[in-house]
Amino acid sequence: MVPLEQAQVSVEDRGFLFGDGVYEVIRAYGGHFFELGAHMRRLQHSAEGARLALGAIAEDLPALMRRLLVQNDLQDTNMYVQYTRGVAHPRAHAFPSEAKPTLLVMPLAIHSLPEGAVNKGVRAISLPDLRWQRCDIKSTMLLPNILAKQQARERGAFEAIFVRDGLVTEGSSTNTFAVFQGILATHSSGPHILGGVTRDAVVRLASTIGVVLREEAFTLEQLCQADEAFLTSTTSEVLPITQVDDRRIGHGRPGPVTLRLREAFLGIARG
Ligand SMILES: Cc1ncc(COP(=O)(O)O)c(C=O)c1O
Repeated sequence: MVPLEQAQVSVEDRGFLFGDGVYEVIRAYGGHFFELGAHMRRLQHSAEGARLALGAIAEDLPALMRRLLVQNDLQDTNMYVQYTRGVAHPRAHAFPSEAKPTLLVMPLAIHSLPEGAVNKGVRAISLPDLRWQRCDIKSTMLLPNILAKQQARERGAFEAIFVRDGLVTEGSSTNTFAVFQGILATHSSGPHILGGVTRDAVVRLASTIGVVLREEAFTLEQLCQADEAFLTSTTSEVLPITQVDDRRIGHGRPGPVTLRLREAFLGIARG
């Protein structure tokens, strides 16, 4: 454990050279990690998909993360975990015969959301989903997501929503939900989306507040005609979307189902 400015990684680390690694972002509320078990299962899933062995880290990580919280005197923060295939010499695409994986764990400050994001909702743009066929692996290889998010920023939007084969998959760093005549819909889990921990929590919460849910993809046109839409992620929680491209969603205000789910989500996360 070292101060952030003293932490170093080799220039030959495959995470640096190839984006050959997986990661997690876990949020702590009041000193407690939200859905830590789900994050650990997803890390395991990502590591398996990347053919990386987690080994003892699978057991040690929760305690390590808690120590970081305590030593930094943090209550509400995000924790970033990155696990790469490690240092290999010389650079070559195929796995090295011997390499020791690199583990990085560091607290990440929670970014405040843009002014009015929760009360007024955010704007999103739509873009073709140019990513690969294993979006369920939370890989550090994020160039398509980064380019999409930057395009959103340059067009004054909060998020870029991906469309693959005519269907809305998810956002560049969020999952996407829409409400059609009281029925909640989101893309089914599988290789075309990241299985969001927040998404899964909202899916479970829907039934507890009496909202019918369909894990079924919708088209961009359907999203634009939805009564409500929102995005979910560890960092954004449940955030209303009130505009997609130049189209207003519903009445252009956060909708009642979104707000109820947001409240229910914050209840369990903060509770
Ligand atoms: C592509 C993508 N989809 C969805 C999410 C939301 O996942 P979670 O709710 O686990 O933060 C993220 C989070 O970073 C993401 O990068």
